[in-house]
Amino acid sequence: MENTPQKICFSGIQPSGTLTLGNYIGALRNFGLMQDSFQCLYCVVDMHAITVRQDPAALRRRCLELTATYIASGLDPVRNILYCQSHVSGHAELAWILNCFTYMGELQRMTQYKDKCAKHADNINAGLFTYPVLMAADILLYQADVVPIGADQKQHLELTRDIAQRFNALFGDVFTVPEGYFGKVGSRVMSLQEPTRKMSKSDPEDTYIALLDPPDVIRRKIRRAVTDSETDIRFDPVNKPGVSNLLSIIAALSSCDAEQAAQELQGQGYGKLKERAAECVIETLAPLQAEHKRLMADKAYLQGVLDENAKRASQMANRTLSKVKRKIGFADWGRKA
Ligand code: TRP
Repeated sequence: MENTPQKICFSGIQPSGTLTLGNYIGALRNFGLMQDSFQCLYCVVDMHAITVRQDPAALRRRCLELTATYIASGLDPVRNILYCQSHVSGHAELAWILNCFTYMGELQRMTQYKDKCAKHADNINAGLFTYPVLMAADILLYQADVVPIGADQKQHLELTRDIAQRFNALFGDVFTVPEGYFGKVGSRVMSLQEPTRKMSKSDPEDTYIALLDPPDVIRRKIRRAVTDSETDIRFDPVNKPGVSNLLSIIAALSSCDAEQAAQELQGQGYGKLKERAAECVIETLAPLQAEHKRLMADKAYLQGVLDENAKRASQMANRTLSKVKRKIGFADWGRKA
C-alpha cells in the first residue's frame, strides 16, 4: 500500500567483546530477516557497553568491528540504518526523561542487573542500574514496532512496553508500544562444555564458538564438546543436553528441525554428529568471516557508513524527542537548539 508508512524495527548489540555463535543464532541472524518488511535500525550500543569498564582503544576498534559484522552478516548498509548509539545524542536525552518515569522497584527486579552486580561487585554503578531505561529510550526514540532480541532481553522489553504505556497514559499516544521478535523457538545455543548453561563469551574459550573462529578451531571446539555416555542420537534437552545442543545448532543453521536432524544422523555415532555440526557452523560463518576481513581493511568506508547513518537516525530521533519535550512541558517557542 502506497501511503502506509513503513513499520520500524530496532535492535542493538554491545561492542563489548567477541560475538559468539549464540549471538548469531539468537539475534544477528534474525536482523537480516527484517530488512525486506521494515525500516530497520541496528545500533552499536557503546553507551550500554560502558556500564562495565572498557579499554578506550578496544571500545573504539570494536565499534567498527561490530559495524563490519552487521554488514558481513547480510545487513545492507543502505537500506538499514547501521549506526553508533553515542553519535545520536537523543538516546541520552530520552533516557534521562524516561528515568523519571521508571520506578526503582522495577529496575531492582531486573535479573540481568542482579547477575551483573554479582559479576562486577567492584563496580556496581548507577548506569548498570538504569541500563534498561537507556534500552527503552533506544527503542522508543524511533517508534519501533518490532524488536528482534535474544530471550535474555525479554524482561527489558517488557519494561520498555510498561514505560511506553505509562507515558502514553499520561500524555496521549506519544510512543509506539513495541513487540519482541524471538525467532525460531528453541534456537538458544548452550555452552559446549556445560550444555545446561547459555553459550556466553564471558565463559572460558572452549565453551563458545566466536564468530571469527577459524575452521580448525571450530572443529576442535565442537569435537571436544561435552555429550553423554550413551550412543544414540536423540533430541532430548533434559536428559541429553549436550547432544541436543549440537542438534539445535545443526537445525538452526540448516532448513530442518532438531528432530529431523536427529533422524538423519540416527545410528551414526557422536563423532559423525559433531562433524556435521562443525560443517554447518563453518559453512555459515566462512562467508561472514571473509566479508568481515574485507570490510575491516577499509575503515574509511565503515566510518562513512556510521557518519551517514547517524544523520539519518538523528532526524528520526529528533521527531520523537521534540514531541516528548513538548508533552512534558519543557519550555519551547520554536527556538533552534
Ligand atoms: N541490552 C541488549 C543486549 O545486551 C542490547 C541493546 C541495547 C538492545 N539497546 C537495545 C537490544 C535496544 C534491542 C533494542 O543484548
